[in-house]
Amino acid sequence: MTIPSDETLSALVTEYGTPLWIYDAAAIRGRIAQLSAFDIVRFAQKACSNIHILREMRKAGVFVDAVSLGEIERAMRAGFTAGGASNAAEIVFTADVFDRPTLERVVADGIEVNIGSIDMLHQLGERSPGHRVWLRINPGFGHGHSNKTNTGGENSKHGIWFEQLQEAVALTQKYSLKLVGLHMHIGSGVDYGHLQRVCGAMVGFCRELNVDIEAISAGGGLSVPYREGEEEIDPSHYYSLWDAARRQIEARFGHPIRLEIEPGRFLTADSGVLLAEVRAVKMMGRNRFVLVDAGFNDLARPAMYGSYHNISVVPGKAARSAVSELLPTVVAGPLCESGDVFTQAETGIVQQRDLPEAHVGDYLVFHGAGAYGATMSSNYNSRLYAPEVLIDGAKHRLIRKRQSLNDLLVLEDV
Ligand code: LLP
Repeated sequence: MTIPSDETLSALVTEYGTPLWIYDAAAIRGRIAQLSAFDIVRFAQKACSNIHILREMRKAGVFVDAVSLGEIERAMRAGFTAGGASNAAEIVFTADVFDRPTLERVVADGIEVNIGSIDMLHQLGERSPGHRVWLRINPGFGHGHSNKTNTGGENSKHGIWFEQLQEAVALTQKYSLKLVGLHMHIGSGVDYGHLQRVCGAMVGFCRELNVDIEAISAGGGLSVPYREGEEEIDPSHYYSLWDAARRQIEARFGHPIRLEIEPGRFLTADSGVLLAEVRAVKMMGRNRFVLVDAGFNDLARPAMYGSYHNISVVPGKAARSAVSELLPTVVAGPLCESGDVFTQAETGIVQQRDLPEAHVGDYLVFHGAGAYGATMSSNYNSRLYAPEVLIDGAKHRLIRKRQSLNDLLVLEDV
């Protein structure tokens, strides 16, 4: 994203306070355009599920993936429908289990389901013959930027184990479920080596099928660079590998096959930042700690995966001479946990990072925070959800209010 100027950031802080999530609509549109070769781009909304962002996606012709009742509700309130103009459903529910309320909703509204377990097939089949389903295959291998985001192989709970594909297909027939297609998502942060393997596996699974399908889904997982110098995935290369697989599958079935992709991070990660104010600076032996008013309750990725987010410093109002010197700095939050640190080498290992000298009253910008940022926030330490702002050209608007103390406590009002 084009980082807003220091003046714009200061104006936003005056209006909304900190911590604050800021997104750039033009940057999101730019990312969508990079994937236009795919027949359907289906946004994995878990990355950034604000209803106003979903509306932007919808305006740009993107469809949506939902993984919970809450995400189904968000999608519908953003204007997506269970059906779709073409064969492709606007909403697909992807999961490994049905909780009971979600099964009710999926059946009542006829929402297409990407099935991740044999039990789901029984539960849906018994309730809703004729329902449109995908089968999500775990091909026996996976890959992720962290073990926690690897969704393939025998240590992963996701999908139907590839050796049970025939059993799953037989169940779709037993229950007269309509098999739309096969889906694979082996993890977040896929590289080309793994991609080739996934495409090959998809072709192999399709050759095994004794029933017809309409579509295949490449899943998500396209990585984005979080630090300078990190390689950016080339969407056209990505597409050409999948397109080649699709052509082999079309040859097998003798008709066109729709190619879907399901990215989360790629569409929004670098379109969002988290802005926080420096509230304390202290030396702990050799370590210079800069403490801000956002914690891992806001941005969980560094504490959860040891993830790297670029950090820049915006001078606050206090006038002082410009310092260009970089200082080894540990950036941390306000939570009562030693792991509440944004600069970690790996989970739990505090790391200094060379940053411009920051003082109390300055602001820190955490970059690459538009995916799995606000959506992974919690109320830990009874801290309030931060507001979200969407910038579009010269305009900006509030798309989520700051949570109030009343909102925080209302459910306990019993
Ligand atoms: N499709 C399925 C079935 C998924 O499970 C996921 C992500 C995606 C698509 C989108 O993956 P993406 O394109 O965003 O990599 N919280 C972690 C990421 C967890 C991803 C879970 N599933 C993080 O902050 O890196």
